[in-house]
Amino acid sequence: MKLSNVIYCGDNLEWMRKMPDEFVDLVYADPPFFSNKHYEVIWHDGAEIRSFEDRWQGGVHHYIEWMRMRCELMHRLLKPHGVLYLHCDWHASHYLKVMLDDLFGQSSFLNEIVWWYENKPQDARKKILPRDYDTILVYAKTYGGQFYAPQYVPTVRPRKQNKVIKVDGRRVSARDENGNVIYEFRDKKMLGSVWPIPYLNPVAKERLGYPTQKPRALLRRIIETSSAKGALVLDPFCGCGTSIIAAQELGRE
Ligand SMILES: C[S@@+](CC[C@H](N)C(=O)[O-])C[C@H]1O[C@@H](n2cnc3c(N)ncnc32)[C@H](O)[C@@H]1O
Repeated sequence: MKLSNVIYCGDNLEWMRKMPDEFVDLVYADPPFFSNKHYEVIWHDGAEIRSFEDRWQGGVHHYIEWMRMRCELMHRLLKPHGVLYLHCDWHASHYLKVMLDDLFGQSSFLNEIVWWYENKPQDARKKILPRDYDTILVYAKTYGGQFYAPQYVPTVRPRKQNKVIKVDGRRVSARDENGNVIYEFRDKKMLGSVWPIPYLNPVAKERLGYPTQKPRALLRRIIETSSAKGALVLDPFCGCGTSIIAAQELGRE
């Protein structure tokens, strides 16, 4: 069975069952979110309809069992130092976290990434506490030893600085009138749990028309953070292939 630079079409359960133990460095999984929606898109010339169901008759427990079977396989396929990124949202993230704690072990939990889509127009129907992020649960197969390349983001300078603190003549921080630090003089800071990345707008150049397509910038960040060049990336729910393109651009298989 060819194991790199290949797309297998079909149910990932069947394909992953055929794959050997511990050959993958990074799994990015972006499954149906338990959204109770039917996704459909007329593809390119209008001749083909691409669709998938995210409706679950047996409720959330049925969904979690369906996911558990697949996550068990992802765990088996990961190398000992491999990492899983499971993309989900408020519909089932808490159930998935409990399931993954059980499967990977609580001590293998690395972080819960918040992909904050700062540019997404708010849903006018949702008048109270509008939702504006997805959740990505990150687990190591075994804690420690996994590849990690910290990512940095530029810091934004406040327009108004009331008091600038200097050490040895070098500006260190700026404080507001209450003495709270509002800015530290660094060009960049290490990215933590909250990743502000714009949502793909309907006319974005990279948009292919697939309803749940994720921005390439998000996938590039995941791949750069948790895999070295030449690493092997598996995406069991690849949709229109965002992770595949990002992996190829970054020299991963
Ligand atoms: C949320 S979308 C993934 C979108 C993708 N990350 C992208 O950027 O295009 C989920 C995908 O999983 C696929 N899918 C659902 N059940 C599957 C299964 N059992 N095996 C393989 N793929 C499945 C759906 O057809 C859909 O393409």
